[in-house]
Amino acid sequence: MCGIIGFIGKDDIANKIIFDGLKRLEYRGYDSVGIAVISGGNRLIVKKDAGKIGEVHSKLNFLEPKSNIAIGHVRWATHGAPTMENAHPHVDCSGDIAVVHNGVIENFLELKRELEDKGHRFRSRTDTEVIPHLIEDEIKAGRSLYEAVLHTVRRLKGSYAIAVISTFEPDKIICARNESPLIIGFSDNAFYCASDIPAILPYTRVFSSMDNGEIAILTVNGVEFKSISNGESISKKTFSVDWSIELAEKQGYPHFMLKEIHEQPLSLRNALRLQEQYLDLLARFIDRGERVFLVACGTSYHACLAASYMFSKIAKVAAFPVIASEFLEQYGEAIGIDDVMLAVSQSGETYDVLKAVDHARMKAATILGLTNTVGSTLTRVSRAYIVQQSGPEIGVAATKTFTAQLLVLAQLAMKVANLRGKLSQQESDFLRDNLRKMPDVIGEVLNSCEEKIKKLAKIYAKKNLFLFLGRGINVATALEGRLKLLEITYIPSLAFSAAESKHGPISIIESGIPVIFIAPRDSTRKDVIGNIMEMKARGAETIILCEEGDKELIELANHHIPMPKGIPEILTPIPYIIPLQLLAYYISVERGLDPDKPRNLAKSVTVP
Ligand code: AGP
Repeated sequence: MCGIIGFIGKDDIANKIIFDGLKRLEYRGYDSVGIAVISGGNRLIVKKDAGKIGEVHSKLNFLEPKSNIAIGHVRWATHGAPTMENAHPHVDCSGDIAVVHNGVIENFLELKRELEDKGHRFRSRTDTEVIPHLIEDEIKAGRSLYEAVLHTVRRLKGSYAIAVISTFEPDKIICARNESPLIIGFSDNAFYCASDIPAILPYTRVFSSMDNGEIAILTVNGVEFKSISNGESISKKTFSVDWSIELAEKQGYPHFMLKEIHEQPLSLRNALRLQEQYLDLLARFIDRGERVFLVACGTSYHACLAASYMFSKIAKVAAFPVIASEFLEQYGEAIGIDDVMLAVSQSGETYDVLKAVDHARMKAATILGLTNTVGSTLTRVSRAYIVQQSGPEIGVAATKTFTAQLLVLAQLAMKVANLRGKLSQQESDFLRDNLRKMPDVIGEVLNSCEEKIKKLAKIYAKKNLFLFLGRGINVATALEGRLKLLEITYIPSLAFSAAESKHGPISIIESGIPVIFIAPRDSTRKDVIGNIMEMKARGAETIILCEEGDKELIELANHHIPMPKGIPEILTPIPYIIPLQLLAYYISVERGLDPDKPRNLAKSVTVP
């Protein structure tokens, strides 16, 4: 959950590249930051401290001394508090080897003890610091830098993406990967490594993703890939990315989250431009599956939950939504060769999702993937996958990737329904027309409700409890709305099926507690009205998302958010989540918080 980056090139511009790249990686971790360069007279210079890039740079100046080779790191602490000592890069006893690392070394304690017994002195409490000391030993044993790193990573258990530089061989960067993501970038005069594409996008559009068990040697002349297990050379395919730099930057919005909320009409249009043959391929696999498991974490899980209603309602397929971290416990023994797992992950790197996928693969189930990240691990472990084309999502809180996931999953459910002849031509046309209208519908919702939401945020920003209630497919919308508020405002919030409130949660209601109802005109409306009255009777302040002009519901609302009319039930989560994304954003801003970098969170959760 950290971010690493490296640069080697013909010109002394490494500091600038690394500094700017770290700023674009900061959403992966902002506990501490550091850079290592090899500069004049073959000296290794490490600058690092706890805190955000701006603060640390103003103290240490990352732009000096200039160099043509450097590595950098932003940290999300897993082992050791966010201190200067625990910040990366970590060095060996002599200070001639520097390492940046993203991941967790599970056997670091035994390695540390072994190294301390040999007289190595450790400066930090991190797992990572064992790596430079192990490399130091290998070099003392007469190995080259590449061989030293190779022998070192063979001893590591756990996940790692590392970049290593050393004064012993100041003309190369050695990278290695196991589980944590690592991208290599190619350009005429320079080569890059980074945890993700946006970090190095301004400098190149040609990339290659390292696979598990690979090591790479970057010099000013090129990149060599080898296998960690047998040391043999590997030829790697490259791929190009057509994302614009702007797409990876703020375009005048105060925060990435607000920019990405407003990008949803575009990301939804892209989600409607997917290659039919991939949708058809995934639909055929789902159609043939004996059982279908929809597996994901966080926001992506909420998309899976909504999809389970879509598959059931239009394709008559029972698709089981499962929280990835619980998959092994819940269905690990049950899944088998005739089953299908559709894993959904915007980053394509979430540890719990990849673990569930690994287990299902072991059981010979068919793995399908839906992700937003080209070249991610999920794309390489899936039998077939779809990349949803939402563009880079920098804000830690997922917004545009959620609505695009819903739109792709709805298209998949329609494909399966047509394969099984479950939809009449008229029904199919009705759904297809509404799918196509979705980007414009979202544009309207953004324009019509933002000012109202800003006012509501001012009214409710000081509240210390919120409830989100929905029924049917909008239980998923309620859960997602709650997650958005919780993760960027830190306000304790509850969400569940409105019907469940009578079985306990309603006891928490007292006068003035804001209760948000997602209440489109669908098959659950009559029951939702009953639930609203139960809450109002106990003094709740009701904020109701309902169709414009829906008098009955508007009368029951302390505040109502008018939503477009006639949205097909299975598509309602897409427009109805928008006001909740905006509410979370504006309450976060009202509370003086940074919506892009919520505390204790990071964009891609790549550790257990
Ligand atoms: C959502 O806002 C959070 N960032 C988080 O819950 C996220 O959805 C979860 O970690 C899954 O990420 P993924 O889609 O990249 O797998």
